[in-house]
Amino acid sequence: MAGDAALVSLLDYEAAAGRTLSPPAAAYYRSGAGDELSLEENLVSWRRFRLRPRMLVGVGERSTATTVLGAPVRLPVLLAPTAMQRLAHPDGELGTARAAAAAGTIMTLSTVATASIEQVAEARAAVDPGAAGWFQLYPQRDRGLTRALVDRAAAAGYAAIVVTVDSPVFGHRESDAREPLHLPDGLSLENFRGLPGYEERADVGILQRFIAQQDPDFDWDDVAALCAESPIPVVLKGILRGDDAARAADAGAAGVVVSNHGGRQLDRTVAPADALRTVVEAAGGRLEVLVDGGVRRGVDVLIAIALGARAVLVGRPVLWGLAVDGEAGVRAVLDMLAADVDRAMALAGCRTVAEIRSDLLAG
Ligand code: GLV
Repeated sequence: MAGDAALVSLLDYEAAAGRTLSPPAAAYYRSGAGDELSLEENLVSWRRFRLRPRMLVGVGERSTATTVLGAPVRLPVLLAPTAMQRLAHPDGELGTARAAAAAGTIMTLSTVATASIEQVAEARAAVDPGAAGWFQLYPQRDRGLTRALVDRAAAAGYAAIVVTVDSPVFGHRESDAREPLHLPDGLSLENFRGLPGYEERADVGILQRFIAQQDPDFDWDDVAALCAESPIPVVLKGILRGDDAARAADAGAAGVVVSNHGGRQLDRTVAPADALRTVVEAAGGRLEVLVDGGVRRGVDVLIAIALGARAVLVGRPVLWGLAVDGEAGVRAVLDMLAADVDRAMALAGCRTVAEIRSDLLAG
């Protein structure tokens, strides 16, 4: 394991990962768009809420388990899609999939992965054949290819398609503009193996190569068509407005993730923590609402659920765990979060996730 100091918080993992990641990978994972105000605000916004804990409940027996889209999870924390995980550690997406399955939660595999849909499904099933996994979809200009990705995910046993809807183009991340990211020898975008336009080339950064293939015209009609045709439920990730959540429900989506893509797309958006209540109200129970962006503590998870989220997703902390100690590091990060959620629940007087309700929030 990298680093000597005790790792007692996710922020310790962030610091330790900073010492082991290659400078281009560190810059890619860390960066936000533009002035990085959303990147910063995502963290700060959770900290503004205050709790009104219940005392003397009797919390000796408690459980962090819940369900998401009907699938049981041992904690209300899922893994957000993050790209090109072999940049962090040779275990890459396969190690993350194994760690998520062992922790009893759901990994969302990125389209932009350095292991394939099928390889990740196998890694997950080897740990727990019953474990659910989700696949994140970037709609491609080649509609046949987009459809093929959905079909491959369904055939490989994924339980949902998570369409990223906040990225018709990519945000301006200045680190990538200054020094475009390249995939080291031996790594490739495995879901597009052999397809022209997706391979590493010395003269153009890999993100620029990938972005050029994305469909900026993917719209609500396409969402409705995808929901109708997809063999598995569709979740829209990147929703920040109530009316968009209502449209998602109308279009047939099973869920939305309130997200600003970790501050990497449009800078100066409302923080997910602050958008959550409005989206939950507009969803009106017609679909499940999840949230990501800046979740680092058990109390953040508690606040998200009290605001009406079914569960949260974490992105960068998983990459830090992976960078520090591969699969074991991801497992350690997930265990740390699970323990922190459990502790926050006990201290707030909640024995079950269902007992985390809005009355816990002050104001
Ligand atoms: C890819 O999804 C990225 O945000 O870089």
